Amino acid sequence: MNDAVPPAAAGAPDAHRPAGADPHDGTPPAGVGTPGTAPAGLLAGRRVVVVGGASGIGRATVAAAAAAGAAVAVLDADAVGADTAAAQVRDGGGRACAHRVDVSVETEVAEALDAAAADLGGIDAVLHVAGVMRGQGLDVRDVPVALWAQVIAVNLTGPFLVAKHAARHLLPHGGVLVLVGSKAGVQTGSGSVPYGASKGGLHGLALTLARQLGPQGIRVHTLCPGDIDTPLMRRSLSEARANGADGGRIAAVEATLGRPEDVASALVLLASSASAGLTGTVCTG
Ligand SMILES: NC(=O)c1ccc[n+]([C@@H]2O[C@H](COP(=O)([O-])OP(=O)(O)OC[C@H]3O[C@@H](n4cnc5c(N)ncnc54)[C@H](O)[C@@H]3O)[C@@H](O)[C@H]2O)c1
Repeated sequence: MNDAVPPAAAGAPDAHRPAGADPHDGTPPAGVGTPGTAPAGLLAGRRVVVVGGASGIGRATVAAAAAAGAAVAVLDADAVGADTAAAQVRDGGGRACAHRVDVSVETEVAEALDAAAADLGGIDAVLHVAGVMRGQGLDVRDVPVALWAQVIAVNLTGPFLVAKHAARHLLPHGGVLVLVGSKAGVQTGSGSVPYGASKGGLHGLALTLARQLGPQGIRVHTLCPGDIDTPLMRRSLSEARANGADGGRIAAVEATLGRPEDVASALVLLASSASAGLTGTVCTG
């Protein structure tokens, strides 16, 4: 998430949103198609792994990738949620499998990506969406080291491990790796000290990977969403309230949350060859 309780100087959370686009009523701005959908067939024949596909943005990404024609592997620490997401794709006539993984454990990451590659017959794109938010609204003086370590393990060591083992599978000349970061730690600070640090670190990781893997024909991006209506965001807002954050600012964030589908469609586009000319960091509203 971006920063559920933005700093006063950060401005209106939706200042970048096109005029006329209401994130809640689904009305597209003039001249734009249905929000949150990628053209059918955009990922036809592509094999896509969504890490963190059981909930929120990841769950929407699984559905969007399948709707765009991809075969999808859903990886998540939530085995039941991953199975459910994959089953929904299959129920809709698509191809999907699911594997449990804790992204902070290297052996699990290696095994899950190997299993996904075996099920799909190879991997064209890895969309790393998994993440946690903790410590929202906590003063830096009160952040326990254990909490810091927990967030860094999932949000920074996790994408490193996924990248390390995804690189073994991604094909040169067409492979794509996208790490989901956040505007927090890239464009703004965060309401959580470890979260903002982890997402800033993820951004640096992706820039470094792009430099290393780019010449091998593997495209690497960070996708940085704004504040999106997901279980993570809802939990985060509750935590901010419990930690005494300003209620008015929380309400302002709540009133302008974006939709997971809008981030998912951007991820689908990045996973496709239509984005072959893009490099670097991509931000959504
Ligand atoms: N929601 C927002 O406003 C927002 C804004 C910017 C960035 N993001 C980022 O988007 C990503 C998705 O967030 P979301 O809001 O959809 O959250 P979410 O809680 O709905 O989904 C996160 C998923 O990650 C999985 N996960 C958590 N820890 C894991 C682990 N150790 N191993 C494997 N899977 C694990 C969860 O089980 C869950 O399915 C996160 O990286 C988050 O930081 C979210």
